[in-house]
Amino acid sequence: MMKRALTPGTFDPITNGHIDVITRAAQLFDEVIVAVARSEGKHPLFSLEERVELAREATKHLPNVRVEPFTGLLVDFAQQMEASVLVKGLRAITDFEYEFQMTALNYQLDSELETIFIMSPPEYMYLSSSIVRELASFNADCSAFVPECVRVALQEKLS
Ligand code: PNS
Repeated sequence: MMKRALTPGTFDPITNGHIDVITRAAQLFDEVIVAVARSEGKHPLFSLEERVELAREATKHLPNVRVEPFTGLLVDFAQQMEASVLVKGLRAITDFEYEFQMTALNYQLDSELETIFIMSPPEYMYLSSSIVRELASFNADCSAFVPECVRVALQEKLS
């Protein structure tokens, strides 16, 4: 049977840390859908359309990966996409509490949906979209942390 996984997130914007998790997931599953949440409550810097476009550009080299926006509950979107697994990155112990809570909640909502975690390699331990947005807002060079299309988009957005 075809195994399809979702890698959900806000991706505001997608970083090399996200690409690492997505690439690893793509090696483990037949198909990976990068599920970009609207996350209105987080007041994202990039619009949903921009976040999807950047994620598509940044993952176009991965043939079994596609990018889709979603609104509403993640468990509903997973059902709609016929995905049986959520894959999330885990950077440090500080991520654990939040991820633990989300996993428990999603399990309550749909106990058939499995959540698995991929540990980030050391070079991405400290990397997050918010760190990238902060660096970019101070005009710092982000090229080590994000795909080229994101670097350009950040420059345009914040200039
Ligand atoms: O990259 P993020 O912002 O940490 O990802 C969080 C995300 C988008 C996975 C989470 O907020 C989410 O699943 N949002 C969709 C709404 C939902 O299902 N909420 C209940 C589970 S927490």
